[in-house]
Amino acid sequence: MAQKKLYIKTFGCQMNTYDSDRIAELLAPHGYVLTDSPTDASLSLLNTCHIREKATEKVFSDLGRLRPFKEESAGSSNPMLIAVAGCTAQAEGAEILRRAPYVDIVLGPQAYHKLPQLLEEVARKTSQKTARLTETSFPLHSKFDFLPLERTASSTGAAYVSIQEGCDKFCTFCCVPYTRGAEYSRSVKELIMETRQLLDQGIHEITLLGQNVNAYHGEGPDGKEWGLGRLLFKLAEHFPHLKRLRYTTSHPHDVDGELIKAHKDIEILMPLLHLPVQSGSDKILAAMNRKHTRAMYLKIIDDLKKARPDMSFSSDFIVGFPEETDEDFAQTLSLVTEVGFSQAYTFSYSPRPGTPASILADQVPENIKKKRLHLLQELVEAHQTAFNEGSVGQSVEVLFERQGKDPHHFLGKTPHGQSIKVSSQIPLIGTCAMVKITKAMPRALEGILTKIS
Ligand code: SAH
Ligand code: SF4
Ligand code: F3S
Repeated sequence: MAQKKLYIKTFGCQMNTYDSDRIAELLAPHGYVLTDSPTDASLSLLNTCHIREKATEKVFSDLGRLRPFKEESAGSSNPMLIAVAGCTAQAEGAEILRRAPYVDIVLGPQAYHKLPQLLEEVARKTSQKTARLTETSFPLHSKFDFLPLERTASSTGAAYVSIQEGCDKFCTFCCVPYTRGAEYSRSVKELIMETRQLLDQGIHEITLLGQNVNAYHGEGPDGKEWGLGRLLFKLAEHFPHLKRLRYTTSHPHDVDGELIKAHKDIEILMPLLHLPVQSGSDKILAAMNRKHTRAMYLKIIDDLKKARPDMSFSSDFIVGFPEETDEDFAQTLSLVTEVGFSQAYTFSYSPRPGTPASILADQVPENIKKKRLHLLQELVEAHQTAFNEGSVGQSVEVLFERQGKDPHHFLGKTPHGQSIKVSSQIPLIGTCAMVKITKAMPRALEGILTKIS
């Protein structure tokens, strides 16, 4: 079969990264081989994110950059096709085809298993093709029913396994329930199969993924519904050689007793939890439809710390949600101080078309959002620096995932998810090693190798 080059550019969250890997695996049997450059690609695919306005705008500027390559290749023996996949494709498929009529295929996150068929149809008829959520039979059949069972592990030693898709929470600021669709959980059996394949290829760390990963309610081997806690216990028991387990992203509302117990009893469950809170003000949390209060959030943090004393926390925050006053914002700052997050992602509220918050009257002016974002980032960075400084002198196991700029520098992650750099003459990518932490910066650590495991 003639080899065709496949260029994929991925935007957004880990779910999109996972989806891009699956798209490459899906197209491999059709002769597509990944390339880093769109120049001579037979297919250029943008896997898009719709979460904030800026993320969406990037799609159009990237399409503009792809266009000359496509035009140059037209009429040659290797004409380029352009596909737009992901959340913006789902939310704004028609707009994409209007603004960028040279796009050949638009397909939403639940429809990418249709790509081989769409590519064939486009090649045959040279007409545009779209496959979005409304046009699939999801969730009666999910895309997972159509994807190849085989996974190809990367050399980084870490891999994602998507266990849950979609979201039923409808936070008033968020587009995800509209772009990814309703919650759907994969069966435990399927997840064990996928995990086994990755471990057989030398993977040490598995991160379970879902838009709302702890709302997981997949079918267990006993035919009953299993929650995330139970699944974690099963994976840890089933794969005694697995070194690290993580899961993301969680919602505070769905943290249950079994999940807290998992953190207490499963040693390989890493001691970092990403638990987005969004705001420290109960008034704003209610307006966001978050289904948790500040007190509920703090109680979960407390319960988890009791279960596993070395637990650290990361979070997402939105500043400048409609009607957020200085007093509401001050409560967000005080929550950061109370919890002392080891990391956090901070965002300025971006109104998303079709979401309830976007039409609220009291939108916060941009200059105030900017000021609050800056204050919050300063505070978050101070906590992150303090956390990193507190790690100096500790010996931890690091999974090395990448090479640094210098060929003898290797970059990895600590159990708490901190980035760390060491020097080594022996290649370390994809391996775990003991490292003594010697230096802390605000966003990263440095250490010396003590033992290769
Ligand atoms: N499922 C996860 C995260 C989804 S999106 C959760 O429930 O927390 C990732 C983050 O983007 C969110 O946690 C939120 O902080 C941010 N975000 C989502 N919509 C946004 C918007 N309209 N404006 C600014 N930030 C937003
Ligand atoms: Fe969006 Fe809320 Fe669902 Fe997270 S829980 S994906 S923020 S609607
Ligand atoms: Fe973006 Fe879709 Fe993920 S909107 S954050 S790519 S779920």
